[in-house]
Amino acid sequence: MSLDDNAWAKGSHSEFTVRYDEKIVRTIHVKSASADYTVQVGCDLLVHFAYHLGKIEGAAKRRIFILTSPEIWSLWGRQFLTAFPPVQQPPVLFLPPGEANKRLTQVERLSTELAAAGADRSSLLIAFGGGIVGDVGGFLAAIYMRGIDYIQMPTTLLAQVDSSVGGKTGVNLTVGKNLIGSFHHPRAVFADVGVLETLPARELRAGLFESIKAGIIRDTSLFRFLERDREAILACDPAALKRVISASVRMKAEVVGIDERESGLRMILNFGHTIGHAIEAATGYKKLLHGEAIAWGMLAALHISRMRTLLPEKDAARIENTIHAYGPLPRFRARVTDLLDAAGHDKKNKAGTRRFVLCPGIGNAVVVENVTDTEMISAMEKILNEAAR
Ligand SMILES: NC(=O)c1ccc[n+]([C@@H]2O[C@H](COP(=O)([O-])OP(=O)(O)OC[C@H]3O[C@@H](n4cnc5c(N)ncnc54)[C@H](O)[C@@H]3O)[C@@H](O)[C@H]2O)c1
Ligand SMILES: [Zn+2]
Repeated sequence: MSLDDNAWAKGSHSEFTVRYDEKIVRTIHVKSASADYTVQVGCDLLVHFAYHLGKIEGAAKRRIFILTSPEIWSLWGRQFLTAFPPVQQPPVLFLPPGEANKRLTQVERLSTELAAAGADRSSLLIAFGGGIVGDVGGFLAAIYMRGIDYIQMPTTLLAQVDSSVGGKTGVNLTVGKNLIGSFHHPRAVFADVGVLETLPARELRAGLFESIKAGIIRDTSLFRFLERDREAILACDPAALKRVISASVRMKAEVVGIDERESGLRMILNFGHTIGHAIEAATGYKKLLHGEAIAWGMLAALHISRMRTLLPEKDAARIENTIHAYGPLPRFRARVTDLLDAAGHDKKNKAGTRRFVLCPGIGNAVVVENVTDTEMISAMEKILNEAAR
């Protein structure tokens, strides 16, 4: 569809512009060498999508295509479509759910569908879903006709606080996750807190571990809020979620703004991820959600930080308590050798050195290259013991 002359957004439906209170939306700017866009966090962004689209230069005149998954569409599709004039309903493309479908074959199929539906270089793709739809949608947008614009409408907490921001897009190979991809920033991100209503509680908690990570590595006030307001957050109180999401996004935006391509500072976002990724790989990506594996990985990284007496005991205890307060973390079994092997293959490693993120205190992170196998094994044994209980 094309929102001709922006009429829908600006004039003909003015009653909703009047009713709509912009103050309920928080805006975060992402600015880096190759990106300049905003992330809006708030309620009712879905139904007021046309209004927000109208504010992005040139976007309202584009032909729009939506990429989503059947599950998400059945929950929220009808509501989303109310944002579009009845005669200008956008074509909807579907990606089946699950990591197994985050593959190049799906990108080819979706590209063919876009072409058949008449998408051209000026078309605008909306990735409406969790991190999988976002990563595939972003990659599809990066390569379709050598690159078209896209907008992220993340529907999981993980996607709202993390994956929709920062421009990393991609798909999996059978030999490893996210091994094919591209940096392609969205034109905008709209994180509607309301869509989280239908998110299973376990998925919500898994996403919150990435926010806890954001607090640990850079934002003490976010950490304190997560520590103190757990009940409101887990009850999906919109104001509490808005605060958590916007603070997490702000942290990531700052880091990506300084180091877009992960040559330095952006590495700190991998806190908990070296061992977390190893756990995901060693358990076949089936047993734990990403955020849950990262929570175990953060506990392991804390153990190493503590052993080095880098992290004060008081901070270590607060962080551990907070991680457990958002649990329970699912139990799992794995062999230390498998974890060590998987950690060695982590693609974040650089030419034989193992880069590892440690925490010297709440709100702080450092990247080191001298974590030994002995330290890794000790941390892995510690969490494996806890995970087997
Ligand atoms: N690009 C990045 O920077 C980045 C960062 C972190 C993670 N990721 C990627 O993100 C992916 C994981 O994302 P995810 O955790 O969002 O998983 P997901 O996309 O699989 O979504 C999780 C589940 O929630 C369902 N769902 C989504 N929104 C819903 C809603 N509002 N109500 C009810 N159910 C809903 C989905 O159908 C799915 O079953 C991984 O592939 C990971 O590699 C990318
Ligand atoms: Zn992560």
